Amino acid sequence: MAQFLVTSALPYANGPIHFGHVAGAYLPADVYVRYLRMTGNDVLYVCGTDEYGVAITLTAEQEGSDYREYLDRWHDEIKALFDRFGICFDIFSGTARCPHHTQTAQKFFSNLLKEGLVHDRVEEQWFSEKSGRFLPDRYLQGTCPDCGHEQARGDECPACGSWIDANRLGDPTSLIDGSKPILKETRHWYLNLPKIQKLGLDDWYTGKDPKRPHADWKSNVHGHVQAMLKDLQERPITRDLPWGVPLPDGITDEKGKVLYVWFDAPVGYISQTMEWAEKEGNPESWRDWWQNPDCKLVHFIGKDNIAFHMVVFPSMLLGQGDSWEGRKFNLPWSVPANEFYNLQGRKFSTSENWYLDNEKFFENYSADAARFYLLMTAPETSDSEFTWEGFQITNNSLLADKLGNFASRVLKFNAKRFESKVPAGDASCDGDPSLKEADRSWGAVGSHLGKNEYRKSAQALMAGCDSLNQFFDNHAPWKLAKSENQADMQKCATVLERCIAYLELLSRRLTPFCPDSAQKLRVMLGAVAETKDLRWGDEGENQPPATLSAGLSLGEPGVLFKKIDDQEVQEEIEALLKASKTGA
Ligand code: MF3
Ligand code: ZN
Repeated sequence: MAQFLVTSALPYANGPIHFGHVAGAYLPADVYVRYLRMTGNDVLYVCGTDEYGVAITLTAEQEGSDYREYLDRWHDEIKALFDRFGICFDIFSGTARCPHHTQTAQKFFSNLLKEGLVHDRVEEQWFSEKSGRFLPDRYLQGTCPDCGHEQARGDECPACGSWIDANRLGDPTSLIDGSKPILKETRHWYLNLPKIQKLGLDDWYTGKDPKRPHADWKSNVHGHVQAMLKDLQERPITRDLPWGVPLPDGITDEKGKVLYVWFDAPVGYISQTMEWAEKEGNPESWRDWWQNPDCKLVHFIGKDNIAFHMVVFPSMLLGQGDSWEGRKFNLPWSVPANEFYNLQGRKFSTSENWYLDNEKFFENYSADAARFYLLMTAPETSDSEFTWEGFQITNNSLLADKLGNFASRVLKFNAKRFESKVPAGDASCDGDPSLKEADRSWGAVGSHLGKNEYRKSAQALMAGCDSLNQFFDNHAPWKLAKSENQADMQKCATVLERCIAYLELLSRRLTPFCPDSAQKLRVMLGAVAETKDLRWGDEGENQPPATLSAGLSLGEPGVLFKKIDDQEVQEEIEALLKASKTGA
């Protein structure tokens, strides 16, 4: 048994999140957490909304909304989508609503300053004379100095992805008032990443620090970070903005200085852990998760967040000195960063009406079908996509025809022939090749989940269902049952006992993927499931499920997954195309 602190990237409270986000950073984390818990680990899963930053202030201002009212609206909507998907956090708060956030983010800043890892400097920045304010990051649009793209923003270029020093932006325009800004002096604070690097960042990253072990980095993470570490630059961590975590008292008399959102947001993982701990009635227990070297820190993110979770936040943690009662923070143990997830060949985009209406989707389809499909197509190693055709095939041919069908044929047959009671089997099916195959497949489900390989894991789950359908077909219990012969009757009983035992195992293996359907299956299994804990168990390659006690009563057989017909899929695709053309 081990201890894990799992986080998912804090979504900006700045608009709806879509299936692409869910497939990238939330659903895989939820599945991982469920799996870790079922295997007996102690797990805390933390998330919340990211509520500061220019992306938010800009849109709230453009729409004339009060910041808090704007944030609350998106916070609630985002949380509702996670609830629909059955994604279960231990806490889902937000950086502007968590009572510990301001103080903790300020303390991070002050400690870095005290350690000599942050310094201030006066520099020129773009200023709108028309609005009388500085224009950080996305308040500006101009030409990318690296690739010439004309709609680059003041923080990064959407075309080439480079981090832009706003002062190098060509011909900038203010996005709030359309004016041409001027350069004006202002004081800012910079995080000295090169200096922190020497405190042990490289040793942790390369695995040379025995006190800070980590799992293997994914190749997308490795590619990105290796290049960054060769040429680290200091980075500004303050902004001139009316909304954000203010600098701690006593730092400056200048007004309107706040922490950069990418400085305060990851601290949100910690402040929300404090909020959780306080609600649990044990306020100091947040330290067991953050300052306990035996706890593994796992960040689920999209690939655009790699630099911040692998370099910037670890540096902030590393640079805290002895100011937390002498205790050190853990650095990430694993960062399963995913690639991007698209919709029918194009990027999800709310403004271009290229998205799935979350409300409508769940009126017609189940969360479990969506979960399973998103996991089967998870953007683990390259970009991938949601297609309606793919969703239909996964639902109909895999979930309904393989998994659901196995459950329903076994339970119905058993109801008819054995009065819904577990028949008394013997050892005559031990070593059956189809069962051995199923053992191998379902043994692999867990090892893949432990390595964040959701696609392979979902495939292995289905491969096991194939083998079990095969087992049922090979022995044709419906023929055995018609035989007058005692040996055939006994074989029939054994085949059914095995099938029911495997169904109970299926209900456990399915739980992290499709928790509701797994629960339904357990209800159908009646006393067979009631007498067994919902633990992952050791069944696997050389360990078939144990023989069930004869006579246990099963519940009512039912339908686990409803099919989706061709016409429905055609209508969905047409509606999507139509909305994107007409904006309706
Ligand atoms: N809000 C950011 C995004 O959506 C992610 C923030 S993750 C955190 O890209 F670590 F900063 F919290
Ligand atoms: Zn560019």
